[in-house]
Amino acid sequence: MANVVVIGLQWGDEGKGKIIDFLTQAADVVVRFQGGNNAGHTIVVDGQKYILHLIPSGILHLHKICAIGNGVVIDPAVLLTEIKDLKEKGIDVTPERLLISEKAHVIMPYHKAIDLAREAKKGKGKIGTTGRGIGPCYEDKATRTGFRMVELLDRESFLEKLKAKVEEKNFYLTQYLKAKPLNFDEMAEAYLRYGEELKPYLTNVPRFLWKAKEAGKSILFEGAQGTQLDIDHGTYPYVTSSNTVASSVCSGAGFPITAVDTVLGVCKAYTTRVGGGPFPTELQDATGNHLRDKGGEYGSTTGRPRRCGWLDLVVVKEAIRLNGVSKLAITKLDVLTGLEELKVCVGYAYEGKKIDYLPASVAGIEKCKPIYETLPGWQEDLSGRNLENLPIAAKNYLKFISDFVEVPIVLVSTGPGREEIICTEEIF
Ligand code: GDP
Ligand code: IMO
Ligand code: MG
Repeated sequence: MANVVVIGLQWGDEGKGKIIDFLTQAADVVVRFQGGNNAGHTIVVDGQKYILHLIPSGILHLHKICAIGNGVVIDPAVLLTEIKDLKEKGIDVTPERLLISEKAHVIMPYHKAIDLAREAKKGKGKIGTTGRGIGPCYEDKATRTGFRMVELLDRESFLEKLKAKVEEKNFYLTQYLKAKPLNFDEMAEAYLRYGEELKPYLTNVPRFLWKAKEAGKSILFEGAQGTQLDIDHGTYPYVTSSNTVASSVCSGAGFPITAVDTVLGVCKAYTTRVGGGPFPTELQDATGNHLRDKGGEYGSTTGRPRRCGWLDLVVVKEAIRLNGVSKLAITKLDVLTGLEELKVCVGYAYEGKKIDYLPASVAGIEKCKPIYETLPGWQEDLSGRNLENLPIAAKNYLKFISDFVEVPIVLVSTGPGREEIICTEEIF
C-alpha cells in the first residue's frame, strides 16, 4: 500500500496520462486535484486513443475508483460530454466509480468568454491560454465570488446569485473587453440541468479519501499541467492559474501531506511547451520540426503545434527539488531515435556567469543562453526492449539524466501504447 503523486516536471504534456494509466493497475483510487479541462491526458490502449480532460486517467481500468477534488475547476458541460463519450466506448462511468467534490468550483460561460476576449485584447503579448475559462474561474474562487458544484443544487439561491453575477460580467465583457453579452436565462437553465445530472456524483471527497487510506487502499494523485506552469513557481505570467506542484494534493484533494509516500516526476526525453512564454532550449529549426513530427507534438486539448526543444535539466532539477520527487519516469525516449547527437542543457550563461537556476523574471529567463552537454544518439528501434537491451547510447542518455538530477529512473516509456513501457522498480 502506498500513496503516490504524479507530477509533470516541465511545461505539461510530459505523458502523465500514460504513466497514470500504467500505475493504476496497482492503485485503488485515482484523483485529480488541480487544473481543469485545460489538461489533455492521452492514453492509447489496443490502438484506441482516449483523451481525458477532467476525469482521471485511471477510469479506463474498470474496477478502479476515480475522484475529482475540490481544487479542480469543472466545466459541467465538458464533464458530462466526457462521461457520455467514455460510455459510448464501453467504459462505464457511474457514481460508484466517479466521485466529484461538492466544493469544486464551476467554470461558467462568462469565464470562457472573458478568457477568450482578454487574450484577443492582448494580441501579441497573449499568454496563449487554452481558452477554457480556467484563469477567470480561479480568479472568482480567490475573490470568493465563484460557484461551487453544490450551489447548482439550490435553485433559488443559485438564480439570485447568478443574476447579479451575469450583470457584472456582462458589463465587463461589453464595456471593457468589447465582447458580446451572455444570456442569463439560457445559462441559468443549462447550469441547473447540469446540477441535476451531476448530483449523483457529488460527494465529500476528502472523507472518502481518508477512509480509503484508513482501509489500506493505495491512492494515486494525477497532476495536471507541469511544474513550470505553476502559478507561483513557473514562468509567470506565462503559467496556468493553479498550483501544479505536488503539495497541492493537500489543498486540492483534502489529503494530508504526511500520508503521501512517493512523488513520481514525469519528464519527457526532450522539452515541449504550448502557448507563449520563455523557453531557453527551444529549437526553431529542422531538429525542432523533427521532434514535433515524430513526437506528434500537437496539443491534446487545442490541437496547437507544440514548441519543441532539447531536454533542459536545469528546469527538471528545479522541479524535482520543488516537488520532492524521489522516482522518475522518462517518456518518449523513442522520439529521439535517429538523431545523430543529443544536446542536454546543464546550466545557463547569464550576464557573464554560469547559473543553474531560472531567473525570476521573464526578461531574465530570456537572457539565458543554454549551456549544453552533447551526447551520442542512437539509430535502433526501441520497441520491445527492456532496460538491459536498450542501445548503449540510450542507456547512457538515461544515466546522464539520472546522475544529473540525482533521482533514479524507474519507468521508461518507449511508445504511446499501454504496453510500451519499461518498469525497473515496483512503485507501490
Ligand atoms: P499529458 O498531458 O502529460 O498526459 O501528455 P499528453 O497526452 O498531452 O501528451 C503526450 C503525448 O505523447 C500523447 O499523444 C501520448 O499518447 C504520447 N506518448 C506518451 N508516451 C509516449 C512515448 O513514450 N512515446 C511516444 N512516441 N509517444 C508517447
Ligand atoms: P496537461 O495536463 C500543456 C498552458 C497553456 C497556456 C498556459 C495557460 O495536458 O499537461 P490556461 O488555459 O491554463 O489558462 O493556459 O498553460 N497549459 C498547458 N500546456 N499542457 C497542459 O495540461 C496545459 N494546461 C495549460 O497552453 O500556455
Ligand atoms: Mg496534455
